[in-house]
Amino acid sequence: MSFNYVSAIFLVVIASMVAAGLAETIVVGGSEGWRFGYNYTDWALKHGPFYINDTLVFKYGPPSNESRPHSVYLLPNLYSYATCDFGNARLLSNPNDQADDNGFSYVLNQWRPQYLASGEGDGRSDCKEGMMKFFAVPLPRWFN
Ligand SMILES: *[C@@H]1O[C@H](CO)[C@@H](O)[C@H](O)[C@H]1NC(C)=O
Ligand SMILES: *[C@@H]1O[C@H](CO)[C@@H](O)[C@H](O)[C@H]1NC(C)=O
Ligand SMILES: *[C@@H]1O[C@H](CO)[C@@H](O)[C@H](O)[C@H]1NC(C)=O
Repeated sequence: MSFNYVSAIFLVVIASMVAAGLAETIVVGGSEGWRFGYNYTDWALKHGPFYINDTLVFKYGPPSNESRPHSVYLLPNLYSYATCDFGNARLLSNPNDQADDNGFSYVLNQWRPQYLASGEGDGRSDCKEGMMKFFAVPLPRWFN
């Protein structure tokens, strides 16, 4: 084994350790939480970029007379994100999963854009009118 080969492996190992150590926990929407009417696309643009293995935390109250029900879905692609089409979406957290203050945590552990949205409201109004959608494209930490 040449020195370069060994040092290249060494660097990859170090980079992976650094990547794992630096993964952040990010509250979606910050102090706004996950609510109707806040522009999450804008929030994601301003907050980003996101990195692999960062944790996104969605905070929303349980359904009540005072607060609308919300949920978290993973949409399959850009088209479904753009049109709020939940046909092939995967439910990650339903409106009743939010009994405590910790929120729903979702780890960005896949190397692809992840399209996230709330599927609640009449005619998916959370997504369509409430702007409760955004996407995250995780980057490798060592590009930071
Ligand atoms: C992300 O986390 C998983 C599980 O802890 C780990 O196996 C993987 O190596 C991590 N990926 C990176 C790029 O750090
Ligand atoms: C939300 O923010 C995005 C990005 O800044 C912007 O393009 C879009 O027009 C905004 N949506 C609304 C409904 O204001
Ligand atoms: C919610 O509204 C319904 C109908 O208006 C009412 O019967 C119920 O008591 C309310 N619940 C709370 C917790 O305020």
